[in-house]
Amino acid sequence: MDITKKVWEVLLTEEEINNRITQLGQQISEDYKGKSLLVVSLLKGSFIFTADLVRRMDIPVKIEFMTTSSYGHAEESSGHVKILTDVSDDLSGYHVLVADDITDSGLTMKFVMEHLMKKNPESVKCCVLLDKPDRRVVDLVPDYLGYTIPDKFVVGYGLNYGDYFRNIPYVFVVTDQDRLE
Ligand code: IMP
Ligand code: MG
Repeated sequence: MDITKKVWEVLLTEEEINNRITQLGQQISEDYKGKSLLVVSLLKGSFIFTADLVRRMDIPVKIEFMTTSSYGHAEESSGHVKILTDVSDDLSGYHVLVADDITDSGLTMKFVMEHLMKKNPESVKCCVLLDKPDRRVVDLVPDYLGYTIPDKFVVGYGLNYGDYFRNIPYVFVVTDQDRLE
């Protein structure tokens, strides 16, 4: 595979992403001032977003990671998400902010938020870089959102295609020219 030969439709540039994350970091810092904030980052997709987001915050913050995977297609529509790596069972005293790269159907985020609510935290909210509201199958509105995007498969900045391209520092749309060769 030679990624330099590919023609990509850039959806969000590095500058656009950086500017928006700076705003989000400032907003979150204001909203959580004086509170014990625990950011829960959903691997793998949100590792870059989380790393940038928390570095734009100027309040004390703890960071944990969860890994989830969706069940097969049929079960996906019933909202089943498998938790492969979980956080502590007791989140009492913490305000939890779940960070993810993108909300599509909303199943993953809704499941994770409901799961974390059972661990007795002060609150659970979410922050996602990208949102595809046209694809939503559950009732979920991100509390903090970078960009609303059209219903297209996007890659880069943590988002993968065939497990590649997470390292590309901007977000682009996969077109027909983009094949893993
Ligand atoms: P949801 O449970 O349907 O909201 O799916 C969320 C997960 O699906 C995200 O965390 C991503 O891992 C993946 N996903 C959804 N849309 C895209 C996309 O356009 N590009 C890459 N991954 C995506
Ligand atoms: Mg994901």
